[in-house]
Amino acid sequence: MTILIKNGLVVSATGQAHHDVLVDGERIVAVLAPGSELALSAERGAERVIDASDKLVVPGGVDVHTHMELPIDDTLSASDTFETGTTAAAWGGTTTIIDFANHHVGIGVRESLDASFAAAEGECAIDYSFHQVLGGVDDAALKEMDVLVDEGITSFKLFMAYPGRLYTDDGQILRAMQTAANNGAMIMMHAENGIAIDLLAEQAIARGETDPINHGYVRRPELEAEATYRSVQLATVAEAPLYIVHLSSSHALEVVANARNAGKNVFAETCPQYLYLSLEEHLGQPGLAGAGYVCSTPLRSREHGHQADLWQGLRTNDLSVVATDHCPFCRNGQKDLGLDDFRAIPNGIGGVEHRMDLIYQGVVTGELTLSRWVELCSTTPARMFGLYGRKGVIEPGADADIVIYDPAATTTISVDTHHMNLDYSAFEGMTIDGKVDTVMSRGTVIVADDRFQGAKGHGIYYKRGLSQYLT
Ligand code: URP
Ligand code: ZN
Ligand code: ZN
Repeated sequence: MTILIKNGLVVSATGQAHHDVLVDGERIVAVLAPGSELALSAERGAERVIDASDKLVVPGGVDVHTHMELPIDDTLSASDTFETGTTAAAWGGTTTIIDFANHHVGIGVRESLDASFAAAEGECAIDYSFHQVLGGVDDAALKEMDVLVDEGITSFKLFMAYPGRLYTDDGQILRAMQTAANNGAMIMMHAENGIAIDLLAEQAIARGETDPINHGYVRRPELEAEATYRSVQLATVAEAPLYIVHLSSSHALEVVANARNAGKNVFAETCPQYLYLSLEEHLGQPGLAGAGYVCSTPLRSREHGHQADLWQGLRTNDLSVVATDHCPFCRNGQKDLGLDDFRAIPNGIGGVEHRMDLIYQGVVTGELTLSRWVELCSTTPARMFGLYGRKGVIEPGADADIVIYDPAATTTISVDTHHMNLDYSAFEGMTIDGKVDTVMSRGTVIVADDRFQGAKGHGIYYKRGLSQYLT
């Protein structure tokens, strides 16, 4: 089908201009000056014309950090399936996710990847790919890294936290980084000193400090900064690039900024929860309410100004990407497992549906330009993880993943209206200036007129190239 999107303000990472966008089948085939002979002829030939007057036309969002169906153990997994989570993502203007293949101690890397492929196959409403977790690095895992890069899995997440299941020690990290330096992969780091955190957590419980807020107290920002610094130094030694995931503290941000100022290939993402929510107001709520805000890295103190520093980092490009770390657990039957001991609360917040809206508020408040919004939510994520060209941009040849965004409409976030499989909203009651109006995924309109018009199975798996941020 040919579709012409006309009269919209097309926003890219480098600028904005009124253009008509012509889609043929799954791809964008032309970006045309409105009123031009070519645009008029495209309109005459189009099977469908969408009028985007007074609206923004932006590349579909690319969320490079999600955890659909993340298994915590044999009985507990994140509450969104690939179907529900990608459908919710579509509602929010995200048209591609990169999820994680969940390797951990005791299983093989390939086994974990096969399980992720099986879970996602035929289920996704939008396109998807996987990063590979390495929960422990041995000779077999290192060999597998090379094979996976050739197969289009070009990024690997390591954990300096969670001793026993996912943790890798410094020697393991260095070996993985050396391998990445050779094969061109990107190492993604969960940078928290898990050994120190577990000790502080044990001491807190022994003192009877069991409430959710203690999760935030023991996961101190210094321990995020220490691990961030250590991983930067290890990456320097290995001459490997490094991408810090879910950065939440001013302390870690300073480490990343210093590394970048020193010319290192170090990048970081943050997530909407760290920009909007805080340790005191949210994690500090008693019982189940606070448990809903347990995630790692944790929400940080507003008193100490972490949130403002992160917004600044987004402006200055010390933070390159906004992802969600979407990892939803319901209050009932999941978050409530840790009401007597914060260590047993499953870690994670759901937000895949709200990233584009929440970061658009940075445009509304003047923190970000329109182009920076697109760059943070779509273009840089695509470039960082080897999807650019097909994703993250509106130009001929790219996939027709397009969001028409209405800056004059408003959205109120609520559990009553969201589409995630989650019995609460971390952003309950927030009013957003702006609204996703229409979402197209590979040339198919999947959200319009306040209706989901897509289908599970529409989304296809993407092999990825190497990051464009490698030198
Ligand atoms: O709390 C979080 N972030 N849960 C998801 C797993 C991870 O570490 O990203
Ligand atoms: Zn993590
Ligand atoms: Zn995560």
